[in-house]
Amino acid sequence: YTVTPFQNEPFTDFSRPENKQAMEAALLKVKAELGRDYPLRIGSEKVMTEQKIVSVNPGNVDQVIGHVSKATQDLAENAMNAALNTFETWKKTTAVDRACYLFRAAKLMRERKHEFSALMVYEAGKNWAEADADTAEAIDFMEYYGREMIRLSETHTHRPLTKLPGEENRLTYIPLGVGIVIPPWNFPLAICVGITAAAVVSGNTVLLKPASVTPVIAHKFVELMEEVGLPDGVINFIPGSGAEVGDYLTSHPKTRFISFTGSKEIGLRINRLAAQTNEGQIWMKRVIAEMGGKDGIVVDETADLEEAAKAIVASAFGFQGQKCSAGSRVIAVASVYDRIVQLVKEHTEKLTVGLPELNYPLGPVSDQQAYDKILAYIEIGKTEGRLLVGGGKAQGNGYYIEPTVFTDVDGRARIMQEEIFGPVLAIAKAKDYKEAIALYNDTEFGLTGSYFSQDEARIAYALEEMHCGNMYVNRKCTGALVGVHPFGGFNMSGTDSKAGGHDYLLLYTQAKLTSRKL
Ligand code: NAD
Ligand code: ALA
Repeated sequence: YTVTPFQNEPFTDFSRPENKQAMEAALLKVKAELGRDYPLRIGSEKVMTEQKIVSVNPGNVDQVIGHVSKATQDLAENAMNAALNTFETWKKTTAVDRACYLFRAAKLMRERKHEFSALMVYEAGKNWAEADADTAEAIDFMEYYGREMIRLSETHTHRPLTKLPGEENRLTYIPLGVGIVIPPWNFPLAICVGITAAAVVSGNTVLLKPASVTPVIAHKFVELMEEVGLPDGVINFIPGSGAEVGDYLTSHPKTRFISFTGSKEIGLRINRLAAQTNEGQIWMKRVIAEMGGKDGIVVDETADLEEAAKAIVASAFGFQGQKCSAGSRVIAVASVYDRIVQLVKEHTEKLTVGLPELNYPLGPVSDQQAYDKILAYIEIGKTEGRLLVGGGKAQGNGYYIEPTVFTDVDGRARIMQEEIFGPVLAIAKAKDYKEAIALYNDTEFGLTGSYFSQDEARIAYALEEMHCGNMYVNRKCTGALVGVHPFGGFNMSGTDSKAGGHDYLLLYTQAKLTSRKL
């Protein structure tokens, strides 16, 4: 069986009229389908519940995206049983067969790319390019992990064990069991697809609990997997309350692993609950937890300041700053501080805020809770720094906030330390590059960082000293690509799983050594 080498899905150039028209057509098509009811998927059953999660457009809060059925603990238990039963057969399918489901789904998603993106425009408030990148990443994850599973299943040929005369020894990677898959809302397709695809292609069955603000796009993925013929019970879809269904499944004795991406608070809770063993449990649960960030960009006095300012603004405000990788801090060396502040101001002031459907550079934040929290941080910022741009609500029938920049912020200020997850940037001054890097490292997180400089010795110093999982030089700190920039963070940013990297599937498998006397 041969597959072509992995290649990243290209992004769509919406300045080309045919692409713009195709996206507009997809937006219209998806709009006509909004407001439907969606079931849970438990084994072969589609279960419509009375109670529903109502998904709304954060950029136009009167528009309902869908009513999604909501699991209870009893339904979660049924889903667990379906996943346990299906595991017995699914684990016996070959790696190539499992990979082929992903390849087929990737092909269909590529063909209907704009439809997936359009749904995220409505449900998550992404502009076209952000939604397109999310869909491209979802396609990449399926193509990449399919190939990775095939490679892993052939480990004995490309990484043979040391030979011992008279014995035949082999290491194979077998699945773990039933996993709970819990993605966040901010990459509602890419991360949902990535962690689910990695788990199932490795031979596990899963209970997928999507984020409550973006369950419709998650359901669209589940439908796609049904369309490509993935056996019932491999992916069980159980939207529900984190506190009710999430805690129940994390504590369940038959849960073998949990793959979570989301906030530090929930990640730590899951880690804590998963560490307790319960009646009937015969393993230590594995927890893959990718969590928050307080990422930053350091600029020294040799840097190309224009390039740095563009990267700062893109990293801070892309998707309204709601990326784990968002560059929400800047630390600039004193001699270029005023200039970088000025350039950041100019670039930020060019950003307009409005309806995602109309493709404004910035859209709304995710929901009321995020909106209130971000506005509260902006008020804190007003006491901790000097307001340079923005500073409050923006117009629109949704959760719109102005891109906001504070300068002269102390390294220990709350807006330099706490993840705000919105369009808020804090800028601090350092006397030299070493102090700037020390300030960058003064955080409990360690996900992404960028260093802007043209001095090789300082770049070498920064590469060694900046303590983060994804460290970039002279470019923005967002936009990691599958296969190119394996992604994951240090410290409170999580377990550094390096999604989209060669080691990722090891987290979803266990290695079995077989030794046979000849
Ligand atoms: P969140 O922690 O609020 O929710 C994440 C998921 O956990 C959701 O599906 C939610 O329903 C679920 N959940 C909530 N309570 C639960 C519980 N008790 N048990 C089980 N599941 C529960 O995070 P969010 O707001 O969806 O996402 C934003 C956060 O995710 C930010 O902190 C961001 O930095 C982080 N993030 C990290 C990465 C990464 O790769 N490191 C990527 C994207 C987002
Ligand atoms: N892959 C996303 C980024 O790097 C999280 O921005």
